[in-house]
Amino acid sequence: MNTRLVNIDEKNIDIELLKKAGRVLKEGGLVAFPTETVYGLGGDAFNPDSSRKIYSAKGRPSDNPLIVHISTMEDLPKVAKDIPEVAYRLAERFWPGPLTMIFNKVDSLPKETTGGLDTVAVRFPSDLVAQKLIEYGGGFVAAPSANKSGRPSPTSGRYVIEDLDGEIEMIISGSDSIIGLESTIVDLTSDIPMILRPGYITKEDIARVVGQVEVDVAIISSDSKTAPKAPGMKYRHYAPKGDLTIVRGQTEAVIGYINENVRTQQSFGKRTGVISTTENADKYFADSIKDVGSALDEAAIARNLFRVLREFDDEDIDVIYSEGFPEEGVSMATMNRLLKAAGHKEIDV
Ligand code: TXA
Ligand code: MG
Repeated sequence: MNTRLVNIDEKNIDIELLKKAGRVLKEGGLVAFPTETVYGLGGDAFNPDSSRKIYSAKGRPSDNPLIVHISTMEDLPKVAKDIPEVAYRLAERFWPGPLTMIFNKVDSLPKETTGGLDTVAVRFPSDLVAQKLIEYGGGFVAAPSANKSGRPSPTSGRYVIEDLDGEIEMIISGSDSIIGLESTIVDLTSDIPMILRPGYITKEDIARVVGQVEVDVAIISSDSKTAPKAPGMKYRHYAPKGDLTIVRGQTEAVIGYINENVRTQQSFGKRTGVISTTENADKYFADSIKDVGSALDEAAIARNLFRVLREFDDEDIDVIYSEGFPEEGVSMATMNRLLKAAGHKEIDV
């Protein structure tokens, strides 16, 4: 397939182009587009063929449900039912933005879109290009992250092109994703809201609005016997080609351990990489040192992580060591993705 590649400047949006992209969606085609979290691979949520095409383009198992994106609050009851009052409070505070809420689905929404489930995940993104595309595409855009299954989610149009050029009708490149990790997912179908995937909107942020909130144990535990409630969280994800290990402990011990192992690996002829905070970046001897941001700026680390993982692949790095980050606030999401990327390989020094 010949993929149409277009650029859209968020400060000067080409409405005619977005109307054309909307038409592609309405006709059953797929369009990748920017959002504030990561790029999405969109199709008409009410068209089962579009959802099938999404699974096939991504190489994704079809039991892994898609998020339905909307561009106005009024459309929420057209995909979800039994909407609890807390949903409106959360929406008031966090929509449009990087929060996904799970509800019971309306009967008319095809099961192909929800991976066979009776529930639906809904998000109202804040990115203006995304909002316009959803509006012109009919209002309901099913969109997983626009990466090939298993690869890090794309935070820039060039990574979408790398993964999906030739496989979908259109790729819209806009600005790089400002958040860089996928949305926080909160399940509102049980009495106490439960976080199924941590993200930029933290547990504490949600608790301030809804009171009590739980976190699915499976997303923090390394025990692979516990099945996560979000089907997609069970799959190995984001894995770079190189062998990734997370090293946690006192700063000096972490640096010492990593440098020692970097030397050993280099003596075997391996190319080595390190994911470092800004504060430590000049203390490592690896072939490729990625500064992901200051330890004091957890949002920067979250934003840069997926890009850095992809860069190691481009540089043919064989062995990667990463500093660990505290499992709280936004860093909880960063560590969740990093642990998945490492296949839970971590060492305490
Ligand atoms: O930030 C995001 O959420 C991005 C952008 C494009 O909006 N999208 C995204 O979609 O990350 P995806 O498909 O890569 O991840 C969706 C996750 C998967 O883990 C999936 O299993 C879970 O959401 N999910 C979707 N619907 C669900 C449902 N009804 N119940 C439980 N989990 C659900
Ligand atoms: Mg994804």
